[in-house]
Amino acid sequence: MQTPAAPGLRDHWSSRLGFVLAAAGSAIGLGNLWKFPYITWENRGGAFVLVYLAAIAAVGLPIMIAEILIGRKTQKSVVGALEEALGPAWKVVGGLGVVTGWILLGYYTVVAGWTLSYLARCLRWSVSGYPLGHDPGAAFGALVADGPVQLVLSAAFMVLTVAVVYSGIGRGIERVSRVLMPALFAILVMLLVTALSMEGAGEALGFIFRPSFDELSWDGALEALGHSFFTLSLGMGAMITYGSYLSRGESVVRSAAWVVALDTLIAVAAAVIMFSVIFSVPGMADHVGRSTAGMLFISLPELFYTAVPFGSMLAPLFYLLVAFAALTSTISILEVTVSYWIDQRGGARKRASVLCGAGIFVITALCGLSLGAWGPLSDFTVFGQKAGLFATLDHLVANWLLPLGGLAITLGAGWFMTREATRAELADGTQPRWFRYGAWRFFIRFVSPVAVAAILLAVIFFGRDFS
Ligand code: TRP
Repeated sequence: MQTPAAPGLRDHWSSRLGFVLAAAGSAIGLGNLWKFPYITWENRGGAFVLVYLAAIAAVGLPIMIAEILIGRKTQKSVVGALEEALGPAWKVVGGLGVVTGWILLGYYTVVAGWTLSYLARCLRWSVSGYPLGHDPGAAFGALVADGPVQLVLSAAFMVLTVAVVYSGIGRGIERVSRVLMPALFAILVMLLVTALSMEGAGEALGFIFRPSFDELSWDGALEALGHSFFTLSLGMGAMITYGSYLSRGESVVRSAAWVVALDTLIAVAAAVIMFSVIFSVPGMADHVGRSTAGMLFISLPELFYTAVPFGSMLAPLFYLLVAFAALTSTISILEVTVSYWIDQRGGARKRASVLCGAGIFVITALCGLSLGAWGPLSDFTVFGQKAGLFATLDHLVANWLLPLGGLAITLGAGWFMTREATRAELADGTQPRWFRYGAWRFFIRFVSPVAVAAILLAVIFFGRDFS
């Protein structure tokens, strides 16, 4: 057996850059490339984007700092970290994080699997041409309803995820992030340059950056707020876990600021790319409007082959990028559970990775079959209009579990940890010049809890659905 959790032996990121790439890898995922563009579209851009940016700065950044702080201070995974920083009762919050991770990875892997399918399709189309008369909507529908294919794709993605976590922090997660993240940035820049050269770029930029507040509803504002949580991987201890592998000499605040900035930049870039392409094709905007959630898998593939310059070269690269982004996110979710297992239960990493991956795959398999392949899993409804296991779990995580975990963490860091304890960790000489401890403390005590509570209240009392 491997030596478990002897304090001096804890694996660490090799540098701040290593941490930032891994944590940005966690944050940048399907939330940025799939969800952000389509909710921005649904909420008519401009004002929604502004509220989103405000939420990232006023709620996301403070909570990101709080999570990394708790992790680095305690050098423990989520359950142990919250117990040590806040007291025994807080183990419950840690446990909630682990459970949330299981559920989230359960359904996230299903969507991640689709990226592999679209990567393969695009490679094929780039070689032998985009098929005439292809119906992208029907093709996507057939993919999600095909049980065996769902199982194979998501199993493949789970195997990739387990393989990385199995290899550890430095040699697994950091090494993979150091290759995939720069590759992702490079591909994104290529796409961005191409998209900005297209006719629709001006209209896209106007849509995204010109705010018109009469277009924004309260629901839209709360959706922006809720999404800021999901996209930054907050609310379940993923950043506590990654922070626990951060060395004491590295600045919590600088690291957090980098992760938040990169995540935001990539989300906005993804929207600019997609909207530029969409606005360049006459009539496309109305078409996309009919199935916004299908933007990434239904509208975009065809557009690459019919409208984008060098599209047949860029399309496979684009889906490779999406797959990379998804993989660096899935490994962070699995790591929460695995590191809990290693720290609290004294297990060996390799065994923990395989067993947790296999356990979570049970949920993944059921979710994969709940999109039409298997009736009983696909048709039941728990939360009103959402049908099936996949949608139900997504609803549960995005609307309930992440905000609940986030609320606990912000209250814990703001009201239950002493000023001295958090100050020692943040204002320790490594912080950047712009950082004001007092401002952080104000946000984490007052602004973040109120904002997160607003999401929960809207969900509880008004039956809102932000997933
Ligand atoms: N942030 C990722 C995305 O945008 C998803 C994710 C990864 C996540 N780890 C998480 C979300 C932990 C919440 C909590 O796709």
